[in-house]
Amino acid sequence: MAEPAIEVYEDEQRTFPPSAAFVGQANAGDRALFDEAAEDRLAFWARQARELLTWDTDFDTVLEWDLPDAKWFVGGELNITTNCLDRHVAAGRGDKVAYHWEGEPGDTVTITYAELLTEVCKFANVLKGLGLEKGDRVAIYMPMILELPIAMLACARLGVAHSVIFGGFSADAIVDRCEDAEARLVITADAGYRRGAPAALKPTVDAALASGAASVENVVVVNRCDTGPDMTDGRDHWWHDLMADASADCPAEPMDSEQLLYLLYTSGTTAKPKGIMHTTGGYLTQVAFTHKYVFDLKPETDVYWCAADIGWVTGHSYIVYGPLANGCTSVMYEGTPDTPDKDRLWDIIARYGVTQLYTAPTAIRMFMKWGTEYPERHDLSTLRVLGTVGEPINPEAWMWYHEHIGGNGTPIVDTWWQTETGGHMITPLPGVTTTKPGSATHTIPGVVAKLVDDDGNVVTEGGGYLTIAEPWPSMLRGIWGDPERFRDTYWSRFPGRYFAGDGAKLDADGYLWLLGRVDDVMNVSGHRISTTEVESALVDHPAVAEAAVVGGNDEVTGQAIIGYVILRGGHEASEELGNEIREHVGVKLGKIARPKTVIIVPDLPKTRSGKIMRRLLRDVADGRSLGDTTTLADPGVVAEIQSRAAEGGED
Ligand code: WTA
Repeated sequence: MAEPAIEVYEDEQRTFPPSAAFVGQANAGDRALFDEAAEDRLAFWARQARELLTWDTDFDTVLEWDLPDAKWFVGGELNITTNCLDRHVAAGRGDKVAYHWEGEPGDTVTITYAELLTEVCKFANVLKGLGLEKGDRVAIYMPMILELPIAMLACARLGVAHSVIFGGFSADAIVDRCEDAEARLVITADAGYRRGAPAALKPTVDAALASGAASVENVVVVNRCDTGPDMTDGRDHWWHDLMADASADCPAEPMDSEQLLYLLYTSGTTAKPKGIMHTTGGYLTQVAFTHKYVFDLKPETDVYWCAADIGWVTGHSYIVYGPLANGCTSVMYEGTPDTPDKDRLWDIIARYGVTQLYTAPTAIRMFMKWGTEYPERHDLSTLRVLGTVGEPINPEAWMWYHEHIGGNGTPIVDTWWQTETGGHMITPLPGVTTTKPGSATHTIPGVVAKLVDDDGNVVTEGGGYLTIAEPWPSMLRGIWGDPERFRDTYWSRFPGRYFAGDGAKLDADGYLWLLGRVDDVMNVSGHRISTTEVESALVDHPAVAEAAVVGGNDEVTGQAIIGYVILRGGHEASEELGNEIREHVGVKLGKIARPKTVIIVPDLPKTRSGKIMRRLLRDVADGRSLGDTTTLADPGVVAEIQSRAAEGGED
């Protein structure tokens, strides 16, 4: 099996059973859901679909499966926004708060379900006014402001697919995504607040549209920071101008269960990101189900907070669609956990009485570094469930979360899933599962995962590749415009199975321990970044002849991007040039993909067949402490690479 990037924690012996008090009040307090799903998986999902969602037309077939093409709840019709908004208002819950929103400068907005419905209807009419129709694609490049879920929901109301592009991505990334999706419209803001100042967005959209993305006809701009961006006549429109004249009357049209809901681009093992396709009925069923049971959600009383960014799938499923389908009150925030101070999260939790917090291991490790004085300033006793997502959580971080945020009693749900899976797949249910720090434990009811070895044989104990053996409702329906890549990437390595790209171990008690990616995808602060993508951006710099990128270990970010580069003739290695190369990647791909370290080397170690020995490069990177700007050809590094390559290590 390909070497996973992280240590294995499965010798961890501590166990944490749910408390009797928690079990007594839990949405799932026993194994009934597991038993039901084990007996008849499709009947189980059909019941969830009918109970959790409101359908305009009931479905006649639960699943049509022609590998790799799945159709769930066939014949059924529903509208996502009816489920997320109208039905709550119709049931007399219009005054319930949908979001408590916290802006970074301290401004706040509280929006109810009735108000959110009005805004969504108005913006849906704006979209219609701009000529958008069912089946079109719209790119969204926005900060974490309420207009973002409003824009997404307005698209969904009309059957227009949104493609949210994370606000940290570059102009090139916008061009690639808009061109691939043939987006007709971009929705953006002038800027969003980040660490005390506006971080510009609109100028990046302008740069993108100046260099490509010819399909984009219009740009709608929210004025968040009053930065006075350039507005191109005829193409750019202010959100507030369009909304001032928009009618709030926009009846929801029933959509086919398989209507495309959104595209979300994610990094693969090649330089070209994949447009992951999610559709309507199955997606909403699984996100509503998992949101309800994994977070033990009580919509009447809970104040739920997923502190992720909507630019990633976590925000799509667990800030927007799941919470709204379940009619709960959420917190949403703009900015970062350290501004105005390092107690931002704990302050917000105490002020709103947050009951569930969902964040990433990388954030927890950062909080650990900052120290316990910050959470200790606030009353966190309202928290009932703590969640993590995005990368394996090390037992130390798990225990710190348990002790300092959870007061030693709050259940922790370590949720494994992917952009492709749409919703949670492997996670404890807090009223049922005895947890072990560092293990995501077991699959949810209705999902079947198997570990397999190199030959595809099922592994019942020990290490293997993580595969999903049966289709699940929120599974991706394809890669936009590339059915062949869809089949090749996920369904060919192990015939009949979905290959997740992760390695995992099963311990003697049947607990799953995720080990990280086994392909050329890095996980930096929970963000997926392809080594190939960073390598292409590196060689795009005029001074770089060749590049190899590896994910080194990093105490806070999990992995860190380490780039080894060979310079073209005529260029001298210098710290300045190294930094310029790092910045170049930041500009090409966005800051999150900028290497932590660029090491200039005279050559790269290769196997006899010409493959770069990445594992050796990773070991060399891990064997020394590389700073943020170490860019010079470190003679020690070079000597070590040369001597170890001479020993003949294979990758
Ligand atoms: C990793 C994020 C271990 C994994 C929702 C997966 C995890 C990739 C966990 C998907 C977890 C996510 N434990 N690893 N609890 N959650 N991963 O598409 O490698 O951004 O393949 O989706 O993150 O990242 P993506």
